[in-house]
Amino acid sequence: MTPQPAIATTPFDAAAVRADFPILTQEPAPGEPSLVFLDSAASSQKPAAVIEALDDYYRAANANIHRGVYRLSELSTGRYEQARHLVADFVGAASPRECVFVRNTTEAINLVAHAWGRKHIAAGDLIVLTVMDHHSNLVPWQLLAEEKGAELAHVTVTPDGRLDLDHLDALLRREPKLVAFPHVSNSLGTLNDAAEITRRAKAAGATVLIDGAQSVPHLPADVQALGCDFLAFSGHKMLGPMGSGVLWGKKAVLDALPPFMGGGSMIRTVELTRSTWADVPARFEAGTPAVADAIGLGAAIEYLSALGMDAVRAHERDLLAYALPRLAEIPGMTLLGPSDPVHQSGVVSFTLGDIHPHDVAAILDAEGVAVRAGHHCTQPLLRHLGLVATTRASFYVYNTEADVDRLVSALHAANRVFGLT
Ligand code: ALA
Repeated sequence: MTPQPAIATTPFDAAAVRADFPILTQEPAPGEPSLVFLDSAASSQKPAAVIEALDDYYRAANANIHRGVYRLSELSTGRYEQARHLVADFVGAASPRECVFVRNTTEAINLVAHAWGRKHIAAGDLIVLTVMDHHSNLVPWQLLAEEKGAELAHVTVTPDGRLDLDHLDALLRREPKLVAFPHVSNSLGTLNDAAEITRRAKAAGATVLIDGAQSVPHLPADVQALGCDFLAFSGHKMLGPMGSGVLWGKKAVLDALPPFMGGGSMIRTVELTRSTWADVPARFEAGTPAVADAIGLGAAIEYLSALGMDAVRAHERDLLAYALPRLAEIPGMTLLGPSDPVHQSGVVSFTLGDIHPHDVAAILDAEGVAVRAGHHCTQPLLRHLGLVATTRASFYVYNTEADVDRLVSALHAANRVFGLT
């Protein structure tokens, strides 16, 4: 197993970071509580730098890309491709050409299921996923398996919310074609040893896709160190605009794939009955892309890089270490997942007595605390844990210990409303 570093001291001032986020510094309406935002695992807030990058693009650089020979189009194209360079550097890609702009992690995984999956998966082939996966890394493979007659198997999860690596090893002995898994569980925050899982899967001859939706925004992610073939992640969870996301793929793997969607930009030549394809990444970016959103994602990456991803991880680990014992003291509290800051990202999922998680979330909302409640797009995982729903609080760079205190006090309020304390 890859050794986990000890908890470091937070090297940036989260209260100062918070001041960069207009939505978090708004004056509440009279009589209303200020906002404590603890749902960044769903979508993060956006700093002024990202909002300004979008605004500036539309005011000063808006034009279609890769088409115009006029200066404004070249300016727009340059900013879009600069954003691709920023993405590539951020994840340690060998080349910006390995980074495909998509709308979100879901689209990235669907791209792989269509382009790679249809080419490489045949009847009887085995695809290994996990019980922990988000629906976005389950359903695309279900559709492919049904179409091809392939088999799906799922690495099981221990009662404390970790992947059972002995079960992974047993499944790898069956020589799967693909292993796809989450780096971090969106429901439980479990931090999986992605490099070790990838090493084992590659040794068994599998192609490996990592769902990085909950890891790339929160910790250093280097595709060379991970050793995977594909890494999918969302810009909107990492301070970037809604509708921005990335599929990273090894150049040789992407080069060998057919397109996902057909249309403008992704072709080399078109005749009435046949076409040839552009090189990657254009082959996978049919039609006019979300240019401003990609540029906004670039601004988000610059913001996160200035904080330092080691520091981001350390900050969330410190917050989790502060939160876990305080949450554990609340009557009726059941914490799910590892409940260990070394093996968990800044995501805490819990149940509170027999109060329905939607009721918990509604009471927290009345106290100004925004959390997610429900199955978190992981119905099989919750079923496996004997649950239907949980309440989930998730932390990011702008959260502080004061936010945790507000969460704890709002949970005590929920207990009082239900007469439990
Ligand atoms: N995938 C997002 C979440 O986990 C929406 O909340």
